[in-house]
Amino acid sequence: MRLGGKLAIITAAASGMGRAGCKLFAENGATVAAIDIDRERLEQVVAEIKAAGGRAIALQADLSSPEACKDVMKAAIAELGGLDVLWAHAGIPGPAAVEDVDLAEYRRAIDLNITSALICAGEAAPAMRARNGGAIVFTASVSGLVGSPASPVYSAAKFGVVGLAKSLAQRFAPDGIRVNAVCPGLTETPMKAVFLGRSDDDEGRESLERRVMASIPLGRVARPEEIAHGALWLASDDASYVTGVALPVDGGYTSR
Ligand SMILES: NC(=O)c1ccc[n+]([C@@H]2O[C@H](COP(=O)([O-])OP(=O)(O)OC[C@H]3O[C@@H](n4cnc5c(N)ncnc54)[C@H](O)[C@@H]3O)[C@@H](O)[C@H]2O)c1
Repeated sequence: MRLGGKLAIITAAASGMGRAGCKLFAENGATVAAIDIDRERLEQVVAEIKAAGGRAIALQADLSSPEACKDVMKAAIAELGGLDVLWAHAGIPGPAAVEDVDLAEYRRAIDLNITSALICAGEAAPAMRARNGGAIVFTASVSGLVGSPASPVYSAAKFGVVGLAKSLAQRFAPDGIRVNAVCPGLTETPMKAVFLGRSDDDEGRESLERRVMASIPLGRVARPEEIAHGALWLASDDASYVTGVALPVDGGYTSR
């Protein structure tokens, strides 16, 4: 029970790693407020947690809207009755283009990857201070540690998330709030296909997938649960002396 009695919020909770995180955090004793844009799948996650004897609530919001993000954080904290843990996990790949980049798509990627993390943390901090501390985990990526030629906007956004984690770690340390980033490598979720699909033809896609797989020392992509375990560790008191780190959970991808 690494999060026994803790009140937690997880964003992008209806799929992939966020969904795995909701289940894992609840299994470890947390009451989880699960936030996502996809109400139907969110309610499935919450129903599964409750069926397993856990505690969870669902809140629907489009986190690419700063106003909606603020409102849903306030609502979640009110419903939980406080906050100890935030896993701000929302993000999207954004545009691949550089020449003729679609600026609306670019701004949406920045809004969901960075602005939502900033706003969630800004709403979380006073609630955590009121409980004498807490833990914030952002989801960055290996693309927040090394450049990504196929996804430059995504990489820029995730480097920003890492910068935000390191900066807030220093800023919030006097309040007993730790802030870290988990940096997943390629993970078996619906988003994986977007990253591996970033080539114009089948041959290019196959060669991209071969190159990506060859670059992972453990020779496989991650399971969502493996990333959720990294977030759980950072969120728990097991990591009580860890703040301001960007933790790769990447099968060794960034070790080269
Ligand atoms: N899958 C990977 O290979 C990979 C690798 C590194 C980092 N990441 C990061 O992990 C996070 C999520 O990825 P995943 O692989 O678990 O994705 P996923 O595709 O399994 O799930 C994404 C979730 O985000 C929700 N979502 C999308 N737009 C939203 C919005 N505007 N407001 C609220 N919710 C919204 C979706 O409904 C979905 O439930 C992102 O931050 C992503 O950048 C993914």
